[in-house]
Amino acid sequence: MSIFGTRPEAIKMAPLIKALEKEKDFQSIVVVSAQHREMLDQVLDLFQIKPQYDLNIMQAGQTLSDITCRVLKGLEPVLEKEKPDMILVHGDTTTTFAAALAAFYHKIPVGHVEAGLRSGNMYSPFPEEINRKLTAGLTTLHFAPTPTAKENLIGEGVREEQIFVTGNTVIDALLATVKPDYKFNHSELQAIDFANKRVILVTAHRRENLGEPMKNIFQALVQLHEEFNDIEIIFPVHKNPAVRNLAFEILGDYKRIHLIEPLDYEPFANLLAKCYFILTDSGGLQEEAPALGKPVLVLRENTERPEAVAAGTVALVGTQKQKIFYHSYNLLVNLEIYAKMERAVNPYGDGKSCSRIIEALKFYFKFIRIRPRDWFCL
Ligand code: UD1
Ligand code: UDP
Repeated sequence: MSIFGTRPEAIKMAPLIKALEKEKDFQSIVVVSAQHREMLDQVLDLFQIKPQYDLNIMQAGQTLSDITCRVLKGLEPVLEKEKPDMILVHGDTTTTFAAALAAFYHKIPVGHVEAGLRSGNMYSPFPEEINRKLTAGLTTLHFAPTPTAKENLIGEGVREEQIFVTGNTVIDALLATVKPDYKFNHSELQAIDFANKRVILVTAHRRENLGEPMKNIFQALVQLHEEFNDIEIIFPVHKNPAVRNLAFEILGDYKRIHLIEPLDYEPFANLLAKCYFILTDSGGLQEEAPALGKPVLVLRENTERPEAVAAGTVALVGTQKQKIFYHSYNLLVNLEIYAKMERAVNPYGDGKSCSRIIEALKFYFKFIRIRPRDWFCL
C-alpha cells in the first residue's frame, strides 16, 4: 500500500506505482491523504493513477496538527480493512510521518522511499527534517537515494541490512517526461522567446520562508527585472495563500515577471530543461535541475541534499535580497561562473530507482534470494 499526499510525493511515487502495477508478485493499493488537492490531482491525472482511497483532508490554512490528526484518523479504517503486508511512504511531509505512525500502530512494516536525507538542523527544513527522522524510527526498509543518505542512517544506528541504496525515483519520473522536441500547450509559455531571452525559473513555498524571507526573495526578483532587459522570470505560484498574496502584491505588475498557476509536471519538467537557471527553495528541484545541467540557486541557508552542492551545480544563497541579487547577477554576466555550474551531473539517480526498490521488496518478501546491489554514482 502506497500512501502519499502532496505534489512532490506523487511525482516521486508515480513511477514506482506504475512499476508495481506490472508486478505479478504484488498487489498495489494507492491511498492519498490529499494534503494537497489540486496540485496532487495534477500529478495523478498525468500518470493516470486512480487511488483506491482518498482521505481528502486538505483545508485552507491547515496547521501541522490538523494534517497529522486527519491523516492518522483517516487511515485507521483503511488499514483495518485492507491489512496490507507493507506500507510505502515517501520523503518528509507530514502525510509521510503520520502514515508511518499509523502503520506502526497497526504493526505493519514501513518501506521509506527517499530515506536518510539530513540537514542536521531540526528547524530547517521545518518540519521536514524531523518528519524524515521520525519516519526513519518507524521504518523497516530504508530506500536511501544516495550513499550519503545511507551513511546518515547508519550513523543513527539503523542496521545496514535494512538499507538499500536505490537512487532517487524523481530521476525516473524526469527522464520519462522531458522531451527535446516538447511544445508548450500554455499560451503564456508559448509567447516566451526562448531563443533570444534568458528564462529564470522561480519556485518558493517553504514554511520557514513565509513572511520576511519571501518578501526579500521577491524584492530581489524585482531588482533583477530592472537590471536586465533580456530576462523573463517565470514563477508558477504555489497554491498556498500565504505565498500567493505576497507574490501578487510585490510581483504582480511587471511585464517580464510571469506569475502563473502551478504547472502540470510535464510542462514544468520541460520548462526546467529550457530555462537559463533556477531560483528555488524546493527540495525536488535541487535533484532534477542538476540532471539537466541547469544551475540552481537555493533560497535556503542549508540543504539535506549536499551532493549537487559538492558537484558545483547547486549553490546555497539564502534569503537576503542582496545575496540573491549578487549570485543571480554573476550567473547572468559571468560566463565562466555559469559554465562551471551548468555541467550535467547525476548524483541522485540513473532512472532505474524504481526497479531497484522493487527488487529490494522481492528480496524482503523472499521472492528472490540474492540481495540487490546498492546503486552508486560514478
Ligand atoms: C507541503 C509539505 C512540504 C512540501 C510541500 C510541497 C508538510 C508540512 N509540508 O507544504 O514538505 O515541500 O508540500 O509543495 O508536509 N493548497 C491548496 N491546494 C493545493 C495545495 C495547497 O489550496 O493543491 C493550499 C492550502 O490552503 C493549504 C496550503 O496550501 O492549507 C498549504 O499546504 P500544506 O500542504 O500544508 O503546506 P505546503 O507548504 O504545501
Ligand atoms: N513542480 C511541478 N509544477 C510546478 C512546480 C514544481 O510539477 O509548477 C514539480 C517539480 O518538478 C518537482 C516537484 O514539483 O518535481 C517539487 O515540488 P515542491 O517544490 O512543491 O516540493 P518539494 O520538492 O520542495 O518538497
